[in-house]
Amino acid sequence: MNKSNKQYFFLKGRVALYIFLKALKLKKDDEIILPAFTCVVVANAIKYLDLKPIFLDIDPITLQYDFQELKNAINDETKAIICQNSFGYQPYYNEFKYLKEEYPHIYFIEDAAHAYGVKSKNDDFLDAKFYSMQWSKMITTGLGGILELRNGTLEKRIDDIYENELEELKTTKSTVLFLQNYFYKYFITDNNYMFMKKVFQFLYTNNLMIGSSSKEELNMSMPQNYLVKYPKSLVHLFNLETKKLSDNLKYRDRVSKIYFRLLKKYYLKLELKDNFGLLTFPILFKDKKYVENLFLENSIRYGDWFVSPLHPLTMEEIDYKYFNYHKCENSENICNHILNIPTNTKVGNIKKIIKIIKQLDREKQIIPWGSLEKLGEK
Ligand SMILES: Cc1ncc(COP(=O)(O)O)c(C=O)c1O
Repeated sequence: MNKSNKQYFFLKGRVALYIFLKALKLKKDDEIILPAFTCVVVANAIKYLDLKPIFLDIDPITLQYDFQELKNAINDETKAIICQNSFGYQPYYNEFKYLKEEYPHIYFIEDAAHAYGVKSKNDDFLDAKFYSMQWSKMITTGLGGILELRNGTLEKRIDDIYENELEELKTTKSTVLFLQNYFYKYFITDNNYMFMKKVFQFLYTNNLMIGSSSKEELNMSMPQNYLVKYPKSLVHLFNLETKKLSDNLKYRDRVSKIYFRLLKKYYLKLELKDNFGLLTFPILFKDKKYVENLFLENSIRYGDWFVSPLHPLTMEEIDYKYFNYHKCENSENICNHILNIPTNTKVGNIKKIIKIIKQLDREKQIIPWGSLEKLGEK
């Protein structure tokens, strides 16, 4: 493969995926395989190009595809496969690499939205990776996405699309985004996070602030101002965040290991090896609602993703809105029980989280990893 190591910066990670797929010049209904444990905006990037998303269920232990199922799903229409890093758990590169050897004409792209800066071995077979710098990610500038191209044969096409089809973000919007970053940095603490999240959501919905996904996107239509470059106003912030990246990852790694040791008996089937600095630490709970309330009462910042195989849609929304989603039981089971706790929080908060996790352990709320059965739940 003619190599590239070029990076392209966009307003969001989903745009990076869209541009990569666009550069492949595929025909209507060509198939793109992706895990049914993702964000609806990822599937939308496929749909906006009139391609067909093929959702595959995930393995309940590894959160990866079942590789036999993946092989069975490949056919003449398959043009690209998305390998996903979930929470910092890396895709199984070796298995994907064998597949790439078997199907060299299929493009492999990693959704590394959760893993900016994580060095990975054995991923040189990939045609591209994309990252996100949205609020909850490894480094954040509020919004942002990067396409890291590996396949040099696509470079010219992507250069052309980037130069000719992408817009700059309007000055007012990029200023608002810049200010939002400072607001976020100085006014949001772990203690008020969940409350401020609601305030922000209200402001986004009323167009007073810039949010991640518009109503149109949640209704699967392409919003205006989708094909937008990364705002210049955020470049300085991005550089500052990048300088702190190595310490950031080391810190997340230490915290992930603390949680892992605490919960070891529940994680016998899921190892941390080869994974460095999880973005957030996923835990399965029997009663997700109960635990969310407990976290809220104790001002613990947590993530509810993924609420469904196409976050943030609900299962009902998927059923009546999303045309070729079919039932993916492992993923749906996991989504019904999964919450994640932060790995980049201060020591005081970690102590508080550990106390609550121990309480939940005593209350038998924690489900051992890999014990949600394929058919039905335990
Ligand atoms: C797994 C995954 N992929 C892709 C995205 C989309 O990234 P962005 O919001 O930058 O478009 C997200 C967003 O949270 C994500 O969690």
